[in-house]
Amino acid sequence: MQYVPFGKTGHQVSRLGFGMMRLPTMKKADGSDQIDREEATRMLRYGIDQGINYVDTAYGYHNGESEILTGLALKDGYREKVLLTSKLPQWLVNKEDDYDRLLDEQLKKLDVSYLDFYLLHALNGEAFTKLQRLNYKKFIEKAKVDGRIRHIGFSFHDDKAEFLRMIDDYDWDLAQIQFNYLDDENQATMEGLMYAGEKGIPIVVMEPLRGGALARPPQEITDLMASQGSGRTAVDWAFRYVGDFPQVATILSGMSTMDQVKDNLRVFEEVKPNSLTREEHAFIATLKQRYLARVKVGCTACNYCQPCPQGVQIPRIFGIYNEAYMFDQPQALKWRYGGVMKDGGDGSLCVECGQCEAVCPQQLPIIESLKTIHAEAQ
Ligand SMILES: NC(=O)c1ccc[n+]([C@@H]2O[C@H](COP(=O)([O-])OP(=O)(O)OC[C@H]3O[C@@H](n4cnc5c(N)ncnc54)[C@H](OP(=O)(O)O)[C@@H]3O)[C@@H](O)[C@H]2O)c1
Repeated sequence: MQYVPFGKTGHQVSRLGFGMMRLPTMKKADGSDQIDREEATRMLRYGIDQGINYVDTAYGYHNGESEILTGLALKDGYREKVLLTSKLPQWLVNKEDDYDRLLDEQLKKLDVSYLDFYLLHALNGEAFTKLQRLNYKKFIEKAKVDGRIRHIGFSFHDDKAEFLRMIDDYDWDLAQIQFNYLDDENQATMEGLMYAGEKGIPIVVMEPLRGGALARPPQEITDLMASQGSGRTAVDWAFRYVGDFPQVATILSGMSTMDQVKDNLRVFEEVKPNSLTREEHAFIATLKQRYLARVKVGCTACNYCQPCPQGVQIPRIFGIYNEAYMFDQPQALKWRYGGVMKDGGDGSLCVECGQCEAVCPQQLPIIESLKTIHAEAQ
């Protein structure tokens, strides 16, 4: 395992972090899912025994069960071996008192007296403005002084401008962003990553495999990787890309099986900053181009077409369609489009008023595309 200094905290952090969001599950008697606690504990402890020292959970993961399992799995001396992170469910904060109530509830669920890192979870511009109004800095300072949290950060899902606004608003110890070789121009973007680096704020990466999709490439991309000759797998390339940036401290993976834990530990023996050659970077750029060439509809999700008078969720539909083609997952198109239908935003509601096409900066044939997708997704 490789370790790097973690910004100004004084800690050395393992480059592979354990994400507690995609743990193995089993069916309860009533048919609902629960974490397979025995296996999840075995996996986490194995990872820690092999050198992982950063563990990332949150209030909402696994319907609230992740924090409980994390606390249980870190018994028997494991708590002291790791830097433990959880996250404030900011969507439940409506008044200043909520901060303390939620943090205390989380410490109780985890059965720990303090968190090494507490993140304001899944911030977007609107949520951050709310927390500013509700005096988030006062809460953070108090919780640091009374010892419930040691360091503070935020996890992020919005655009670059919002990321820069948040980074500049407080003296953060870390920021957590979605980053992988397909998303380096989305959300915080490469520029945001560099900016945080200049300010000495370490980055924790989430979704380095795009939630698993980059581990299951379509055949043409598998063939391309095989022809490259190094024998590296899709997982190797994805982790190595993210880990090449010195601004990135820890890379979280939500591992669902023991085999994945072992495989990722193997890869992270060699994930070092600034270690990829120019040729390897060029190869990853080719992989990205191949994925992007599979995109069917050139929607950039600018949202100019929204709101549609009929409620058709145009960017969401195009996003689902494109992802299904990028990763060659026709089944995903059906079930994810089914979700749009359930939400009452599918293409069958289109009355062809053309309002969307008139404002689309990409001049996309939206009406025809919606018809095609609706037919294909049945
Ligand atoms: N703060 C936030 O808003 C937020 C949002 C997302 C995530 N997170 C955190 O970041 C962590 C990492 O994100 P993520 O879980 O999306 O990471 P990820 O690494 O992009 O995706 C994890 C998935 O990749 C697949 N995988 C992992 N290792 C593999 C291997 N060696 N071979 C094949 N497949 C492999 C598994 O999917 P399958 O088993 O399905 O194949 C696994 O569930 C999360 O667990 C969570 O702690 C935070």
